[in-house]
Amino acid sequence: MTILVTGGAGFIGSNFVYYQLKQHPEDRVVCLDKLTYAGNLATLEDAMKQKNFRFVKGDIADRARVFELFREEKFDIVVNFAAESHVDRSIEDPGIFLTTNILGTQVLMDACRAFGIGRYHQVSTDEVYGDLPLDRPDLFFTEETPIHTSSPYSASKASADLLVLAYHRTFKLPVTITRCSNNYGPYHFPEKLIPLIISRALNDETLPVYGKGENVRDWLYVEDHCSAIDLVIRKGRVGEIYNIGGHNERTNLQVVKTVLKELNKPESLITYVTDRPGHDQRYAIDPTKIHNELGWLPATKFDDGIRRTVEWYLANRPWWENILKGDYQHYYERMYAKR
Ligand code: NAD
Ligand code: TYD
Repeated sequence: MTILVTGGAGFIGSNFVYYQLKQHPEDRVVCLDKLTYAGNLATLEDAMKQKNFRFVKGDIADRARVFELFREEKFDIVVNFAAESHVDRSIEDPGIFLTTNILGTQVLMDACRAFGIGRYHQVSTDEVYGDLPLDRPDLFFTEETPIHTSSPYSASKASADLLVLAYHRTFKLPVTITRCSNNYGPYHFPEKLIPLIISRALNDETLPVYGKGENVRDWLYVEDHCSAIDLVIRKGRVGEIYNIGGHNERTNLQVVKTVLKELNKPESLITYVTDRPGHDQRYAIDPTKIHNELGWLPATKFDDGIRRTVEWYLANRPWWENILKGDYQHYYERMYAKR
């Protein structure tokens, strides 16, 4: 089989590339990535040494380029990770989120239709469900929870999901969608909470916590997300949505303190800053469907996952230090100067 992985130079996409190459060495993996600020080719260095991997630089919203690639390769499955993914950036400048996340999805699905691809898989997010109140720990997102988005990022992801379902119903495109909770692990870009905290704490810099740090996220180790997508693309039912999560809810403050303990750094580094506008209170996934239908369960407990993640960032300092030296630094100043 040949699998197209879009956005494979980013955080989850790269972990998925390595997961595929390890679990299914008989398959070929082609990665299409625009290499935006979030894409890092260094991440794929080891993959590029393997004969059954090919990297292609390109934009999923570039119709001519995408169709050219589909003509060159005979894809069996397309897995779309490519996206603008950071909520704070979507609040600063929503435009590119609509172009990549919605129009890019449309282009990929048009190519799948034109070339008769066996499966189009959309990597979506639990953020399409909006948020849950902090005082109702009994509530969880199921696949039936209505879409109710808060940020331009989640609105763009939800729009793409609706388009994917429309292409299934109208054109019979064989699609699946997964909606996962917050991921963490190796190759996570240091603008997101956990790698930001690790990299800044290691440099003894202040740690910006939005509001009171009471917002809750449901954390999943990235490899568990990869194993779930792998199951869905091979055994999931066409036309279905599967939620992915491991019941690992933590407040942001709990997460930051866990990381600090692991690094042996003081809590005095924590600085409370102005809250994110429209900040979602709580995300919590009910993963019953994927467990019952496909037997998926997460393998990594939060404390173990955090330990492994911290160890990875300690062992791979050049990876994130190179990022911090680049565009990211200007981004950080722009984002936090007024907070
Ligand atoms: P990321 O920002 O780390 O990586 C995104 C990748 O997509 C980068 O390599 C970037 O260069 C590439 N890309 C961006 N625009 C592109 C375009 N127009 N054409 C081709 N490539 C493009 O993101 P991530 O955290 O790895 O997220 C991957 C996917 O998973 C996204 O669709 C996101 O919505 C979804 N998701 C993320 C999380 C999470 O916790 N990070 C949770 C659930 C779902
Ligand atoms: P983030 O990693 O941006 O993921 P998302 O917003 O998609 O869930 O943020 C995770 C949580 O951490 C979210 O509630 C916002 C919060 N946060 C901070 O408190 N400080 C920060 O500097 C960042 C980036 C996030």
